Amino acid sequence: MYKVIAAVVLFFLLPMGAKGQKHVFDGPSRLYGQPGVQFMQRLVPWTGDSVVEVVGLPKGLRFDKERSCVAGCLQKEGDYSYVVRVAHGGRMLRDSVRLTISRQLQQPAPFMGWLSWNVVESEISTEVVRTVAEAMAASGLKRAGYRYLVVDDLWHADSRDTLTHSPLADKQKFPNGMEEAVAIAHAKGLRFGIYSDAADRTCAGRYGSYGYEKEDATQYAQWGVDLLKYDYCHAPTERDTALERYRRMGEALEATGRKMLYYMCEWGQRQPWLWGEQTGASCWRTTYDTRDGWTGKWGGVGVVQSIEGMRPLWPYSGVNRWNDADMLCIGIHGRGKSSSDLVEGRPGMTQDEYATQMALWCLWSSPLTLSFDLRKPISPDDIALMTNPELLALDQDLMGQQAQPLWERNGLILWVKPLENGDVALGLTNMNDTAARGTIKLDEIPYLDHGKHYHVRDVMHRFSQTPTRGEWRVALNRHQTAVYRLAEMAEDEVTGEEYRMQVREQRCRLKVEFKGAENAPKRIVVTDPYGRVLSEQRGSGQRFRLPLPKEEYVVRAVAQGRACCWSPEEKD
Ligand code: GAL
Repeated sequence: MYKVIAAVVLFFLLPMGAKGQKHVFDGPSRLYGQPGVQFMQRLVPWTGDSVVEVVGLPKGLRFDKERSCVAGCLQKEGDYSYVVRVAHGGRMLRDSVRLTISRQLQQPAPFMGWLSWNVVESEISTEVVRTVAEAMAASGLKRAGYRYLVVDDLWHADSRDTLTHSPLADKQKFPNGMEEAVAIAHAKGLRFGIYSDAADRTCAGRYGSYGYEKEDATQYAQWGVDLLKYDYCHAPTERDTALERYRRMGEALEATGRKMLYYMCEWGQRQPWLWGEQTGASCWRTTYDTRDGWTGKWGGVGVVQSIEGMRPLWPYSGVNRWNDADMLCIGIHGRGKSSSDLVEGRPGMTQDEYATQMALWCLWSSPLTLSFDLRKPISPDDIALMTNPELLALDQDLMGQQAQPLWERNGLILWVKPLENGDVALGLTNMNDTAARGTIKLDEIPYLDHGKHYHVRDVMHRFSQTPTRGEWRVALNRHQTAVYRLAEMAEDEVTGEEYRMQVREQRCRLKVEFKGAENAPKRIVVTDPYGRVLSEQRGSGQRFRLPLPKEEYVVRAVAQGRACCWSPEEKD
């Protein structure tokens, strides 16, 4: 009865002529979540007005007017809807949102894996699949969450089977067929991805799937494929045709009954974030192909162009509808194939630039697709960057919020990403070609309780800074990104004073004195001005040696500490 009344009320609240019209807010009206997991929809009306109210919210969700978002948690699977109302020019605009809560989502968190295109291209073969699968398992990549091994373009025979029209793999490259390659990946506990195109030819000129969607989807399912990357070369440009072609393949995949992750690749040219989910896909590329360089030229996508492409799209991403920023170039070091052209200067990036790419992809909750040469040894620095569990935890956060750029000042961009457990991740990217300093002020950050103290975890370097409720300075190399995870401190965790002091000698002894035993701190922390912990003492001790030659220190007394750390959950 309650459901019937709610449906009638919603019917009258919906605008009569709204079908097909641009939404009131910049963002999707089709969203997904999981039972028992925090959900969030950040509402950004394109009119520039603020949201007046959200009507018909199911129990468990609430509208936070100050932060302009719907947030909360639903325990039961099902389809829910609500209406967003915005006052604009004397009229009340309305928009309806459909939210599906399910345990069976195609892509609850952005997928992670390796794609063959950037360094292997036409050399793809059973042997490459075997070597890469072994390397993914042995290097710790699989353990960190990189589970999909994706064979990109050029796996095909010259033509499909003339009688059945089923797709065939190149006999030279895959002598025992694609089944064997799939089995090799599966035996290593990996999932297998394949590539095709929504036209008669793929980008590299092999046969495409248009007109043969059923045959191809059926064959992929029989081979045991777990993911399809579906490209759009040689296909008509209009959005309606793209929607129709992608939907045909989405339906064919669905009809096989095998769960396959459907990954659209039309390079963001027809704004797939507005319609991609209607095809059955759960992620879509937002740019042309990434290149192994900080700046691309003549259409090449360096990190700078990825930022331009992704920064306005944060309202459109969400659980099971991810914006994909394309392959990561970490580890390629200028030795790729197509990834090595169209860059400014020589291909390859500094380690700070690769780290920025990794940090941003994680802050954006983009699928993470490595593309370096796994047939060769991996450097410890690269592997540490790709598997940093605290960074990956941001990418894989189940609330699925893409970081929004909060401000850009003096060439620094501040990114903000609310997280499922109530923590907030921040990123500060230095776009300047020189080193730069910035200040992060907590009272500027939405999603925080201003006035409260926060634990500050440096995610890139994996250490805890001193907790703060104020601000801290950040020093960045050129093109470097700092990433922080802020966790609210419990009231009784916070006491203490902060002392700033100058030290000129190489080493010195610091005496810290507190009046009255009842005020004795439980922990004394000494940091540099950037909050990096240099020394820490527990218990009643009030004297200790400063370990490093530095000009300035901050000494803080803390009543109790709470560690913020994360370790990856072993997936099946
Ligand atoms: C491009 C696509 C690349 C790669 C290539 C293969 O269109 O963006 O990621 O798949 O085709 O030919």
